Amino acid sequence: MSTTMVSQDLIADYAERFAGSQKRYEQALVSLAGGIAHDGRYLKPFSLYVDHADGAYKWDVDGNQLIDYAVGHGSLILGHNDPEVTAAMHEQLDRGTHYSAGHEMEIRWAEQVQKVVPSADLVRFTASGTEANLLAMRLARAYTGRPGILKFDGHFHGWSDYLIKGEKPPFESPNQPGVPDDVLRTVAVLPPDDLGALEERLVQGDIAAIMVEPSGASWSMIPLPEHFLQNVREIATKHNVVLVFDEVITGFRWAPGGAQERFGIMPDMTTLAKILAGGMPGGGVGGRAEIMEHLLFKDEPGWNATKKVIHPGTYNANPLAATAGYMCLKRCENPEVQQHCDAMAAKLRAGLNTVLEHEGVDGCAWGESSVFHLILGHRCTNRTAADLHTPEGIDPATLKASGKAGLGTPLTIAMALDGVDLFNAGGLLSVKHTAQDIDFTVEAFTKSIGRLRASGYLS
Ligand SMILES: Cc1ncc(COP(=O)(O)O)c(C=O)c1O
Repeated sequence: MSTTMVSQDLIADYAERFAGSQKRYEQALVSLAGGIAHDGRYLKPFSLYVDHADGAYKWDVDGNQLIDYAVGHGSLILGHNDPEVTAAMHEQLDRGTHYSAGHEMEIRWAEQVQKVVPSADLVRFTASGTEANLLAMRLARAYTGRPGILKFDGHFHGWSDYLIKGEKPPFESPNQPGVPDDVLRTVAVLPPDDLGALEERLVQGDIAAIMVEPSGASWSMIPLPEHFLQNVREIATKHNVVLVFDEVITGFRWAPGGAQERFGIMPDMTTLAKILAGGMPGGGVGGRAEIMEHLLFKDEPGWNATKKVIHPGTYNANPLAATAGYMCLKRCENPEVQQHCDAMAAKLRAGLNTVLEHEGVDGCAWGESSVFHLILGHRCTNRTAADLHTPEGIDPATLKASGKAGLGTPLTIAMALDGVDLFNAGGLLSVKHTAQDIDFTVEAFTKSIGRLRASGYLS
């Protein structure tokens, strides 16, 4: 493969090709704080504005077609506009979107989660993944009578005051703007490679729950040490601490029953969102009956006042999300969905690493299941022209920051110019991504390396 010399000025090319997006971003800045609706969508000099999407593609406001590796922040494993899901949603739309009451679809949705997620004896729906984790923490505290939560460096569990601690490097940073110190003090953050420190912390006896992304931080950006999940499972059991798998990304993606099915390790509670709601806003918690019991109203004297966990929420299990979620989960029950996505992601990771080998550029593509991450400009000591699970030679904080720091942004811009929309300099696959799409992406990556060289980002 050879690199293509395209231009001397990446940013000027980007501004020219995506002029309609730039115009909308400038307009957005006047009314939308920061011009964006989600920090993850921030891109300097501006992010893309999309007009419509279908299957594995989206089209921006200037009519440029892009292969979409963001797929609804990971929620659209069936791709955009799956005909079965959208037909059911249209039908539901005509019958109302909010009944302020129970409805058939919320039961079918919960039954489907219960059927496929091993740890879900009972289910409660929320409006997002962040809310699912808030509820899981509250349930764990009520069940154990302890206040503390323990999590790991870089693991992302949404934007709540509690779980934002230790998410971004430097992981040990003691404060978060806008979050009270008293809240931060209730959360312990540890590196995942020090089980001794974990045991030592649990001996203090104040921890209610251990929260884990079972893929490793940010959908496998920082892979977990070998046997980590098994070891944490045993330690949590020994100290009677509730183990929560945050399967907001991995749920229905790592396997029909999520990472817990793929790795054969049972958490006490599981938090879900994204694929759970088929691309609509929604989340949920599934868990052991004796923990979930704290959501029940009981006639037992004193229970409702002292044991019952409060959980309202206007949009919990709204009929449209329940319909999209149920239809999507029925399809995800077939392991061919995950097998296809995994195979395409493995082909992509191998193809990207092959380009880097041939071009002699430092960096690597890595990941697990149907996701991939990319870093450039850092030497990965175990990269070959093949798939890669755990990059060596690059520290965890650098891996975690790679989406936006260093060459993450120029790479994202270059790939957009070559017809590919990355997500945090990586992405997630759907059933709609084909082998041809992967070949196109690998070719685009070769061209993008050329762009980065021509504009001085890479030598
Ligand atoms: C692992 C994980 N947990 C929780 C969340 C938060 O979910 P939501 O954005 O629905 O609040 C996310 C979002 O990306 C996530 O990736």
